[in-house]
Amino acid sequence: MKSVALLHASQLVTLSGPKRPRIGGEMSELAIIRDGGMLIHDGKIDTVGSSDEVEKNSGGAEIVDVSGRVVLPGFVDAHTHLVFNGNRLDDFERRTHGESYEKVAAAGGGIWSTVEKTRASNDLDLLAQAKKHANWFLKCGTTTVEAKSGYGLTVEDELKILRVMRRLNQETRLEVVPTFLGAHAIPRELRATDYVDLVINEMLPRIASEKLAEFCDIFCDRGYFDIEQSRRILTAAKKLGFKLRAHVDQLTNSGGAKLAAELGATTADHLEKTDQEGIAALKSAEVQPVLLPGSVYALGSTFYARAREMIDAGLAVVLATDFNPGSSPTASMSMILSLACTQMKMSPTEAITASTVNAAYSLGRGDAIGSLEPGKRANFSIFDCEDYRELAYWFGFPQAYAVYVKGERMEW
Ligand code: NIG
Ligand code: FE
Repeated sequence: MKSVALLHASQLVTLSGPKRPRIGGEMSELAIIRDGGMLIHDGKIDTVGSSDEVEKNSGGAEIVDVSGRVVLPGFVDAHTHLVFNGNRLDDFERRTHGESYEKVAAAGGGIWSTVEKTRASNDLDLLAQAKKHANWFLKCGTTTVEAKSGYGLTVEDELKILRVMRRLNQETRLEVVPTFLGAHAIPRELRATDYVDLVINEMLPRIASEKLAEFCDIFCDRGYFDIEQSRRILTAAKKLGFKLRAHVDQLTNSGGAKLAAELGATTADHLEKTDQEGIAALKSAEVQPVLLPGSVYALGSTFYARAREMIDAGLAVVLATDFNPGSSPTASMSMILSLACTQMKMSPTEAITASTVNAAYSLGRGDAIGSLEPGKRANFSIFDCEDYRELAYWFGFPQAYAVYVKGERMEW
């Protein structure tokens, strides 16, 4: 049984607190220990406290002196589209000429162009690219991601993507929580109603029986799935035991937040166009909002979700990258922290809570990850700075000095 004693963190940002997602003022309580230490046994956190205390009880543990750097729980990225083939450089360039996300999609780019490339890719090539993405996350200090399918849109191609996620869990150190997003776009070869039937009658039962996903998601917006189609798919998924997440109100305020509340979804994601009524609906059903400022930024918009109103309403806000080739090509949670603070006026403390412990609860893993507390997995990062606020303040370059998964330091 391997033991490690981590000593002399300038700030050990523990986020210890109630065993539930944090709301309101609680989002500003990081439970920081100055000159902090942590004893790790067999991949789990044993003790958290002052360096002195931890050193006294360290026994024969290997000593890791972090020399005045900040230590944080591994980031938990609760919204990514990690498995796809290729990139969307042409879309990117078109947007530099002022074309919108929807216009680029209508002109042959968009989700559909990634679907074509992903369908044409075999499972090994897809896995190789996904491993590269997984490494990007780990290097940025993210140790758990949620990952959505949705670039296959046929039974076999959606299964292929979800099986790649299963292999990522087996073959990399990144923890991947799989979500089925068959309703990401309507495939060119089918009418919308036929595709909705295919998702409900073939994809969902197959994925449930092979236990390939924990959550079901949908892109409910103009030009994608409307409220009625979304309700049908999510209701069918719920009956089969899937928990729900939903892409809503990204392009238009179409009532998606209310639908997420009506169906008791775990999260409602994007929410850029959600108004006060939608925020109240989320609160009434305790749905966690997942905010994705990276996609607003990368699409060249300034229309960010109303984070302050959501926090003031008592919602347990989550921040995520939305990593995908089209609207948010970043795996960097630090970049998201920067955007959350500068563009959505979240405080650094709120942003860190939203990207760790709140995100962990949104994935049903709040008891195992998301904070540095005894009994939890020793997933943490050491950052090359003295104050946690520097993570959101400096931007555009990596600050992670070392990343640990289950007590083992990652080697690149
Ligand atoms: O979350 N909004 C829908 N899905 C992704 C974009 C996917 C893509 O453009 O490939 C998103 O922004
Ligand atoms: Fe997304």
